[in-house]
Amino acid sequence: MATVSTQLTNQPAWQALRSHYEEICDVHLRTLFTSDPKRGERLAAEALGIYLDFSKNRVTDETLRLLVALAEQSGVRERAEAMFRGDRINITEQRAVLHVALRAPKGKSIVVDGKDVVPEVHEVLEKMAGFCDRIRSGEWKGFTGKRIRTIVNIGIGGSDLGPVMAYGALRHYSQRDLMFRYVSNVDGTDIAEAVQDLDPSETLFIIASKTFTTQETLTNAHSARDWCLKLLKDPAAVAKHFVAVSTNAEEVTKFGIDTANMFGFWDWVGGRYSYDSAIGLSLMIAIGPQNFREMLAGMHAMDEHFRTASFAQNLPVLLALLGIWYNNFFGAETVAVLPYDQYLGRLSAYLQQLDMESNGKSVDLDGKPIDYQTGPIIWGEPGTNGQHAFYQLIHQGTKLIPCDFIGCLKTLNPIGNHHDLLMSNFFAQTEALAFGKTAEEVKADKVSEMQISHRTFQGNHPTNTILLDKLTPDSLGKLIAMYEHKVFVQGTIWHINSFDQWGVELGKVLAKQITPELSPSYSKPLQHDSSTNALIQRYRAANN
Ligand code: F6P
Repeated sequence: MATVSTQLTNQPAWQALRSHYEEICDVHLRTLFTSDPKRGERLAAEALGIYLDFSKNRVTDETLRLLVALAEQSGVRERAEAMFRGDRINITEQRAVLHVALRAPKGKSIVVDGKDVVPEVHEVLEKMAGFCDRIRSGEWKGFTGKRIRTIVNIGIGGSDLGPVMAYGALRHYSQRDLMFRYVSNVDGTDIAEAVQDLDPSETLFIIASKTFTTQETLTNAHSARDWCLKLLKDPAAVAKHFVAVSTNAEEVTKFGIDTANMFGFWDWVGGRYSYDSAIGLSLMIAIGPQNFREMLAGMHAMDEHFRTASFAQNLPVLLALLGIWYNNFFGAETVAVLPYDQYLGRLSAYLQQLDMESNGKSVDLDGKPIDYQTGPIIWGEPGTNGQHAFYQLIHQGTKLIPCDFIGCLKTLNPIGNHHDLLMSNFFAQTEALAFGKTAEEVKADKVSEMQISHRTFQGNHPTNTILLDKLTPDSLGKLIAMYEHKVFVQGTIWHINSFDQWGVELGKVLAKQITPELSPSYSKPLQHDSSTNALIQRYRAANN
């Protein structure tokens, strides 16, 4: 058994944070605010139009100083430079990690294996733009000569969640005579419901898969092709109704898609970091190449902010450090992401993959087991829906749940006073979570004696408030890149590889083994544990 990793826990800043935690863990946010009337303005950072108020966190200036020291001692700056340079920091797969190259402007140079990758990125963007323009204008015709009306993206994980999240977020900017659907689950219901009211002669399928070997995506792609050909009757129709986004030209060809209709990317783009590559083709069709480019420019601006801003003013670094404070010192297990913008309805699901697939690790970069907590559980729903569902537990439950509240100063849909109502809830929640309501305050409301404890709010629940001016392609790009770098900083401090995902493999292998065993004609004895054997037998009996 390898010895336990001490890389992090031996650091002076880590040890100092441990003792500091003992000193301040019981200090209430009420006290922190009373003792510093300017705290709410002072503990904030603003960059690129994003305002981060982190004053409602259980930190003092000393906490922040020590957290910044932790980032410095963990080599965050150096590792970021290694990433931007194209070093193979994904050591288990021997790959560079260069999603930042996807938004590098023309003229920048990032060299991987002796080749500048930036011109290739722009070549693909141009090819995507040309294709999008043809779809959007109606110039691209389906097999029977009709224009395309519906785009169905088939992908899973990063090849689904990214485009789903971003299409939802930027729907306001989308071309409204086109309809977009996303199919991911291998459950046949997903594809069946997605196509049941569609006309294949007006439908374009985008098969989005980095590897082009993912079971769910390939199964759905084959079913989509069968559905299409059943009605269009000629295999030549595939060329007009199927395009692929992948790094695997060979498998794309095997599927029957001409590589002329394939949009490529590269092994140095991780699936969960890929929605700004060709994986975002459906998004580009929806919002148009210009808006897509604005989103990329927003991401690049955040990349530069992350690289160059001092840690004390660096949005991703601050978010990462505050997350570590609760995760590793307060023992918080989860983080709630609570966007107060309906367009960001799938943001929490997207960040779930980004964060949990990246930092759900329990050995360090040297393969040693670690004895401290790594990635938290990420979850959430858009406000105000969550308020009427799970906020009770955040306010009065027994768990500490740090929350990111994300809102926009201006709405894209100014209807009546909806936005004021939405944002008054947004501001009220972080206030209530931080300051609570004391028993004395409850008593003053003249409630019955027995209700007093039930109606008391302890408060002291930490929150970040992240304010955008308005949801635009540019601000969405900044927001997403901010979270990407947050995850990077945390992974660096935890000394783990945030860029592989071996943990998803075992289930895939077992599922492959089980598939033939589900057939009633399978005659060999089942070799699983008694629970799995019994469940398989039950399934077989039901389907006989
Ligand atoms: O199984 C996990 C995973 O590899 C994710 O990391 C990825 O986003 C998803 O599967 C889909 O992979 P692909 O784009 O290769 O189909």
